[in-house]
Amino acid sequence: MKITVIGTGYVGLVTGAVFSDWGNDVYCLDIDTNKLNEIKKGNMPIYEVGLKEVVLKNLENGNFKVTSDYALAVDHAEIILICVGTPSNQSGAADLSFVYKVAEQIGQNRKKDDYQVIVCKSTVPVGTNNEVRDIILQNTTNHNFDVLSNPEFLREGSAVYDANHLDRVVIGSDSKKALDTMAQIYEHLDTKIVKTDLASAELIKYASNAFLATKITFINEIAQICEKVGANVKDVSLGMGLDTRIGNKFLNAGIGFGGSCFPKDVEALHKTSSENLYDFKLLRGVLDANEDQRIFFTKKIFSKFGENLSGKTIGILGAAFKKDTDDVRKSVSVAIIKDLRGAGAKVKLYDPIALENAKHELGELSIEYSADHKDAFTNVDAVAILTEWDEFKEYDYVSLSTTMRNKVIFDGRNILDKSLMQNNGFEYYGVGV
Ligand code: UDX
Repeated sequence: MKITVIGTGYVGLVTGAVFSDWGNDVYCLDIDTNKLNEIKKGNMPIYEVGLKEVVLKNLENGNFKVTSDYALAVDHAEIILICVGTPSNQSGAADLSFVYKVAEQIGQNRKKDDYQVIVCKSTVPVGTNNEVRDIILQNTTNHNFDVLSNPEFLREGSAVYDANHLDRVVIGSDSKKALDTMAQIYEHLDTKIVKTDLASAELIKYASNAFLATKITFINEIAQICEKVGANVKDVSLGMGLDTRIGNKFLNAGIGFGGSCFPKDVEALHKTSSENLYDFKLLRGVLDANEDQRIFFTKKIFSKFGENLSGKTIGILGAAFKKDTDDVRKSVSVAIIKDLRGAGAKVKLYDPIALENAKHELGELSIEYSADHKDAFTNVDAVAILTEWDEFKEYDYVSLSTTMRNKVIFDGRNILDKSLMQNNGFEYYGVGV
């Protein structure tokens, strides 16, 4: 199929690359020509396992092309996917200005009479696709198109894998023709395609992310209870997760959820509820408890060293909001580092790949970026683990501790074995263990 993807961020670039790999003829459009030139050279703007290989392969065979020319890209496609960002604005609502701008451009650049399906993959509040339709109609005299919602469920870090192993595809439209056209892209996959109306498709995305965020928050609150009653949240999580009705995923207690999706999507769904005169109390609780979870962890460090951390240096393992990504947007690690700096501490930060992005967020004040993880253990009063990178589980903590001032570990992701650490002479603080 002939497809155009607008926006080469996480969603757009992965979608464009994977669709081209499935044999479709894809144009990826972005207004940032520097970015496009780098992509053409094989330099990906994001770190995503396997993405570079897929892009290079399909650049070479001609299935994947990039352009900044709207006329060319819009004219090319049977299906146009809108994949631009929808950041939260100050009120917590999704900022849709990029989506609206793209809809305007699509309308203005529609030339041929051929039928087109315009798809919103960006996470947008319920009702946005109708607005997209109206904007396109206002900007074109050619009305031979339908809008369709096809929400994205890819996880950062494993997005290319996920795209080929989808749990389900959700497509929503008021037009059967649009649903049938869009379904063709996915028909070769062994996955269930849920066909529904526009509003339901839009809501499925928010409901899914809000539910997962709630599940994480639930186990985080259980971790709090575990600490009070002397239980171990890892065992509680294991015991709960074996019930197939509950499932074992997203039951890892820690410092709270972050990233570009969960905080924004929970906030946006809460906002949608309020705007529709419904008070979604559970979601407000989730947002508050998630904030508290970070504070709860930082307070463990304060309890050990006092609330004035002047003269103290804390080694930090992990800046990314989760493992296998260089993304630090809404990373709880970044927020904790700010808390520690605010209390006067110096920080030595190591992350396998997110240091550059962390630098943009955190600057140079009271922070040393460690190219080697050993530096984060050298002359520090404690080490805090804030991202669950696999390599952090493999370190020889006993030999690394020889350069630490104290053998103190704050494990915000519960990746180490408490008894083992204690038997090796560490003062160990996990979350709910
Ligand atoms: C999420 C959804 O999973 C995905 O379907 C959607 O398309 C985009 O949003 P992502 O933001 O990439 O994906 O990360 P995810 O793996 O879901 O983790 C989100 C946050 O929750 C991270 O900060 C992670 O560390 C945290 N988390 C996750 C936990 O604290 N505990 C868990 O058990 C799982």
